[in-house]
Amino acid sequence: MNTNAETSADGSADAQTIAVRSTGPLEGTVVVPGAKNSVLKLMATTLLTDGTFELTNVPNIVDVSIMGDLLEAIGVDIERPGPDRLLLTNTGDLTPVAPYELVERIRASINVLGPLLTRCGHVRLSLPGGDDFGARPIDMHIAGLEAMGATFKFSHGYLEAFADRLHGAEITFDFPSVGATENLMTAAVLADGTTIINNAAREPEISDLCEFLVAMGADISGIGTSTLVIEGVEPWALRPVQHHTVPDRIQAATYLAAVAVSGGQLEIEGARAEHMTMLLERFGDMGLDISAVDGGLRVVASERLRSIDIATLPYPGIATDYKPLVITMLAVADGVGIVTENLYPGRFRYVEELQRLGADVRTSGHHAVVRGVPRLSGAPVKAHDIRAGAAMVVAGLAAEGETVISGVHHIDRGYDDLVGRLAAVGATIERRF
Ligand code: EPU
Repeated sequence: MNTNAETSADGSADAQTIAVRSTGPLEGTVVVPGAKNSVLKLMATTLLTDGTFELTNVPNIVDVSIMGDLLEAIGVDIERPGPDRLLLTNTGDLTPVAPYELVERIRASINVLGPLLTRCGHVRLSLPGGDDFGARPIDMHIAGLEAMGATFKFSHGYLEAFADRLHGAEITFDFPSVGATENLMTAAVLADGTTIINNAAREPEISDLCEFLVAMGADISGIGTSTLVIEGVEPWALRPVQHHTVPDRIQAATYLAAVAVSGGQLEIEGARAEHMTMLLERFGDMGLDISAVDGGLRVVASERLRSIDIATLPYPGIATDYKPLVITMLAVADGVGIVTENLYPGRFRYVEELQRLGADVRTSGHHAVVRGVPRLSGAPVKAHDIRAGAAMVVAGLAAEGETVISGVHHIDRGYDDLVGRLAAVGATIERRF
């Protein structure tokens, strides 16, 4: 699938870097694109029924292109008639196999499991890859689908799932897993009977997927709550739809963090305050003046940030994906902040990179203690994953001299023109080829 994103994920971006300097206040408007963690799931869900779907507010990122390649390999034709539009035509001639070469590049490939199993009765899926921050098991996906009648076989790196027709079941998660909620929900749409998911994930991207499914003809209640009830429908009840992807709250937070460390004021168009309530409150505690305006957020950063303590939690808590940004903000805040990671204990690798920029951060187990310094000092650093990469860019805005970030292909997986968007509001930032 062709993409307009700046690189492909085939390694050609490996030699590229982003160079950034602190230049003082940012000013202007940034438009937030659609959410990666929604659009990839919407794309996978088109496997449920034949016909042409239209997605708008699609971010121009490499992960969309990889998911496109995976769906094309399965039997969905994809066109990109405009930079933020996708047309996906499910041909009905599906090969329910997700090959290693594509799956290992993107975690969200696991989202084809539910739709393919419920639609085709059989799936062969290489185990998914994703980010470099520790084990990401899929036991809850498997246990939930087993409760609905699926059987699994694992051999040679592939997971095979079988089911004549899935049946409804009541499933209670130990933990509100985003991916497991999505897979069970999409599978349950065509199952026989009622599926109840207790302790379901409640992220805005899950609600976006629910709304997409309901528009397609699915019967789902409890949307936005931790109990989802899905009444299975017959395949003929589903139809392709047009859908506008929910805006990306993590990209929105990235621009908040950028202005927080640079000073200035930004309008963040498309950001949805109601999807970021707890984060915005905590950013307010740090000294940012944030208000909801028509169609977005307005943020004014006029003073040095103050430190806070925070812990990551499933939605509506502070998302783990915000954490590298928050640690970067704390690195230049006044005081000491303690950050506790409750989702991915290994998600602190970028701290070593921040230390290279002069940040005073110590980690122990799943805690980080951040003692703010007035200014960081530019150096070469690496992006280890999508969010850590964005945090390095923000750190570069808070550093004297030049910060040069390698591993840019990680940033391209999830950020739609981060460099151009920041440059347009006054950042000194460029991509080097
Ligand atoms: N978990 C299990 N077993 C499972 C599923 C999850 O133990 O079967 C554990 C995971 O190991 C982890 C926790 O539960 O410790 C959270 O996993 P979850 O399933 O909620 O996350 P995910 O669906 O794998 C999505 C996002 C991540 C984001 C997390 C948490 C996508 C493609 N990825 O992952 O986003 O960090 O939810 O909010 O939606 C990113 O965008 O950079 C990113 C990593």
